[in-house]
Amino acid sequence: MAVPADRFAALTHDLGILYGGDYNPEQWTPDVWREDARLMREAGVNLVTVGVFSWARYEPAPGVRDFAWLDEVLDVLHAQGVAVDLATPTASPPAWLGHRHPDTLPVDADGVRLVAGSRNHFSPASSVYRDSALAVTRDLVARYAGHAAVRMWHVGNEFGQVCFGDESAARFRVWLQERYGSIGALNEAWGTTVWSQHYGAFEEILPPRRTVYHVNPTQALDFRRYSSDLLLELYREQRDLIRAVDPVRPVTTNFMGFFPLVDYWSWAPELDVVADDQYPDPTDPWAPADSGLVQDLMRSLGDGRPWMLMEQATAAVSWRAHNPPKSPERARRESLQAVARGADGVCFFQWRASRAGAERFHSAMLPHAGADTRVHAGVRRLGADLHRLRSVVGGRVEARVVMLFDWASWWAAEEQARPTVRLGVLDQLRAWYRPLWQAGVAVDLAAPGADLDGYDVVLVPQSYLVTKTAARRVEDAVDRGASVVVGPFSGVADENAHVRQGRFPALLRDVLGVSGEEWVPLPHAGVELRLAAPLQALLDAACPDGSPGRATTFGELLRSDGAEVLATFVGGHLDGGPALTRRVPPGGGQAWYLGCVPDEQLLGRVLGEVLDGAGVGGVLPAVADLPGVEAVRRGTATFVLNHTDLPVSVPVPGARTDLLTGARCGDLVEVPAGGVVVLDDRVGTAGR
Ligand code: GAL
Repeated sequence: MAVPADRFAALTHDLGILYGGDYNPEQWTPDVWREDARLMREAGVNLVTVGVFSWARYEPAPGVRDFAWLDEVLDVLHAQGVAVDLATPTASPPAWLGHRHPDTLPVDADGVRLVAGSRNHFSPASSVYRDSALAVTRDLVARYAGHAAVRMWHVGNEFGQVCFGDESAARFRVWLQERYGSIGALNEAWGTTVWSQHYGAFEEILPPRRTVYHVNPTQALDFRRYSSDLLLELYREQRDLIRAVDPVRPVTTNFMGFFPLVDYWSWAPELDVVADDQYPDPTDPWAPADSGLVQDLMRSLGDGRPWMLMEQATAAVSWRAHNPPKSPERARRESLQAVARGADGVCFFQWRASRAGAERFHSAMLPHAGADTRVHAGVRRLGADLHRLRSVVGGRVEARVVMLFDWASWWAAEEQARPTVRLGVLDQLRAWYRPLWQAGVAVDLAAPGADLDGYDVVLVPQSYLVTKTAARRVEDAVDRGASVVVGPFSGVADENAHVRQGRFPALLRDVLGVSGEEWVPLPHAGVELRLAAPLQALLDAACPDGSPGRATTFGELLRSDGAEVLATFVGGHLDGGPALTRRVPPGGGQAWYLGCVPDEQLLGRVLGEVLDGAGVGGVLPAVADLPGVEAVRRGTATFVLNHTDLPVSVPVPGARTDLLTGARCGDLVEVPAGGVVVLDDRVGTAGR
C-alpha cells in the first residue's frame, strides 16, 4: 500500500470526523462486546481506542502471550464498521514486572519507590521496563498490523512520568555529558560557584531530589528537559517499531494541554497527528476561553494541520475533589468547539463506564444506567452532528495573531526562589488570550524563535528565557511592520536560566525602547495607574465612571529609552515610573511593553487597541459585545458557539444554512442557549 503524505488526512478522508472513545474490553465479557459494537454503530461511532491498559491481559505471566481475546474483539468491532486505534499497552505494566524487577518502578524526589496498584508505575529510565514494553509491543504489532479493523496506532498513554532513582540518575548524567561535553561547561552552565555546588565529575551529579533548601535552578531546568527527552525516546522506540511493520497508518499519543512535564514543541513533529485529552472544569466560568487556548495550542503544535480531541468526559470526571456532571449540551458544545478550532476527531474517555476500579464514577458514552439515558442520547446526537460536519474535515483556521509560549521558559520562570509566586506564566497567557477569544480573533501559538512571518500581531505575555534567535524574530517582526506586545518578567534570562546582565529585558531592550532595573511584586490591592491621554481616552470609552486602570500582582522599575510612556504607576515603590510603553520605529510596526499586570479591563483595551492598529478583527464583529459567545472560522465554515444560558441573535451578513440543523438562517442568526450554529459559505448562501 502506498504511504500517504499525510497519514491522518488519509484516514479522515476515508472515515470523516473520527468519533468514539477509549474502549476497555478486558473489563467485559464477549456478549457485552457484541452489544457495545452494535450500540457504537447506532451512535455513529467510527473509531475506538483499544488496549491502553491491557498489558496484564496480553502477558499474564512473564513472556506468556494471550491475544486470542483481542482477535475476537477486533472482529466484533470490525463487523459493525467500527475502526480501531490500537494502543501499545505500555502505560501500565503488569504487577509481576515490578514484583520481579523493583527497579522498573519509579522513585519520587523524596527517594520513595512507588508501587503497583494504580497505573503508570514505571520508570522511563528502566532498561528492564523498556525491553519488556518493546517485547509486548513488538508481538502486538506483528499480530495486528494487517488487521482490517486497525486504522491507527496509539503509543502508551499520557506520557508524563518522572523518576528520580539511580537508573534515571545514570541516564541524566549521560544526557548532561551530551549537552555540555565537559564537567567544566556544566559547572559554568549551572552556576555552581554559588553555595559551593562545584562538581568534580559527572558521577557526582544527581537528579534534583529532596534537598535541604532551594535546589539549583539550572539543575532543575535540565532535569525537566532530560525527563521530557527521555519520554520522547520511549515514544519514538515504540513508534519506530510500529512504523517498521506498518508504514501507512497514523501513529500518535495523547497530550494533556499545557502539561508541565513534557515539552510538546519537541514532541509534536514525531506524531502523525497531534492528539489531546481535555477535561475543562464545568464549574470554571472561564473554561470555554481556556479550552480555546488549549485547542489553538494543539492546532499550532501540528503546524496548523487538523488535530484530534482524543479524550474528554461526557458528563462528570472522578478525579477532582468535587465532580459535578456537565450537561449533554455542554459536552456537545465543547466537542464542536474543538472541531471549530481544527479537530478532525472527537473522542471520549471512555465508551462504557467501568463498574469497578478507580474510575467507577467517571462518566462514559454508555453510562452504568445504559443506553436509555440522557447522556447516551447526547452521544447519539453528537454522532449525528459530526456526520453532518464532514465537509469541514481538513479545513484550516487562519490566524494573523500569534502568541509565544514555550516549556523551558515556563519551567525556568517558575523555579523556586523568585520575585513572586503570584505571577504565573499560564495565568498571563490565559489573561491575554481571553479578550481575543471574546472578540473572535483567531490566534496561533508559536515557540519563541519560530518564524513569525505572516503574523501582523505578536503577543509575548511572558517570555522569561529569551535566546538571540527569539529576540531577532521579534525585532524582524517589528521591522516588517507587525505590532509586538511584550509582557512583564520577560527577557530575564538566557538558556541556562542565568539572569542576563545589564538592564532588562536585555535582548528586547532596543526594539522596545524601554529598560528596567527592578522587579516589584505589588500588594494584593494593586497599584493605581495614571494613563496618558491617548490611553485614557480608550479607557474612558470602556469605563465611563472614570475608574482608573490598576496594576496588579507585579510591576517593574522602568525608564523609557525612547518609547512613548502610555501609563505610569501612582504611589508606592514605583511612583511615577512607566508601566506601559510603546515604541513606533520609523517605517516599522509598533513595539509595546507592559511592565505590569494590568487589570482585566485595561489589558483588554490595550490589546484591543493593538489589534485595531494592526487592522486585525474578529470573525464576527458582533460577538465582541456578546459575552460568552464564541465565533471561529475554519475553512469556509463559521462556527458560532453560545456558552451562555440565554439564546442570542448574532448578525451574520448573507443568509446561509446551518450545517447542523439544515435550517436556513437570515442575516440575524439565532443561536439557542448553550447551542452551536455552523454556517458554511458553500452551503445555502443567499443569491447563489
Ligand atoms: C486521562 C486518562 C484516561 C482516564 C481519564 C479520566 O488522563 O488518559 O485513561 O483516566 O483521564 O478522566
